[in-house]
Amino acid sequence: MELFDKAKERATSRPAIDSSQGHTIAYSRTTSSRLMGVLDANANGNVHGGVIMRMVDEAAAVVAIKHSHRNVVTARVERFDFLAPAYLGDVVSVHCELQYVGRTSMEVGVRVTAEDPLTGEVRHVASSRVIYVALDEHGKPTPVPPLVPGDDEERAIIERARLRRQRMQKLEEELAKLEEGGSE
Ligand SMILES: CC(C)(COP(=O)(O)OP(=O)(O)OC[C@H]1O[C@@H](n2cnc3c(N)ncnc32)[C@H](O)[C@@H]1OP(=O)(O)O)[C@@H](O)C(=O)NCCC(=O)NCCS
Repeated sequence: MELFDKAKERATSRPAIDSSQGHTIAYSRTTSSRLMGVLDANANGNVHGGVIMRMVDEAAAVVAIKHSHRNVVTARVERFDFLAPAYLGDVVSVHCELQYVGRTSMEVGVRVTAEDPLTGEVRHVASSRVIYVALDEHGKPTPVPPLVPGDDEERAIIERARLRRQRMQKLEEELAKLEEGGSE
């Protein structure tokens, strides 16, 4: 109980959040790494996909929290592609960057690599995109700071993500119509 009281006191004693102040992609870009051990194995002796999924959700949430300075919840795993196996003894790294923000939501792009630390060989093993929603003190969605491009490369990333979101929304509307049996 004391533990929760301490956490609550810490949360309520922080300065008010200024969500009008935008941040660049670089501001919240994060990489987290872990050496894969026996507890990470699946029945084939490779790294279990669920281990990688958990690492992705945790690392990508850090990006959303750093950008918004808020607690966040995972709203959607928009993509998760496993491209190659990771092996026990590999260092799995989860590289995450914010690519798009809405009013209260944030889309994080993720690239997962596995490195054999004995040879230095690095493989791209998975990619994902995860959407988080920032929550206020009452657990309700709350506005997040704008994503401000720091350079031309960041501008291109944000523009690509904006177009992707537009197309995803259109696709979702079409799929919803199909499910209702209302397609032409
Ligand atoms: C995510 C959640 C907070 C959204 O609540 P809501 O009442 O639907 O909120 P709103 O309709 O106001 O939508 C808020 C934002 O979330 C986005 N959103 C909501 N559901 C979404 C989904 N399934 N996929 C993508 N975005 C979603 C909306 O587009 C909106 O974005 P915007 O403000 O940038 O335009 C709510 O559905 C929830 O709590 N889900 C459970 C989260 C959870 O437990 N995650 C697992 C553990 S962390």
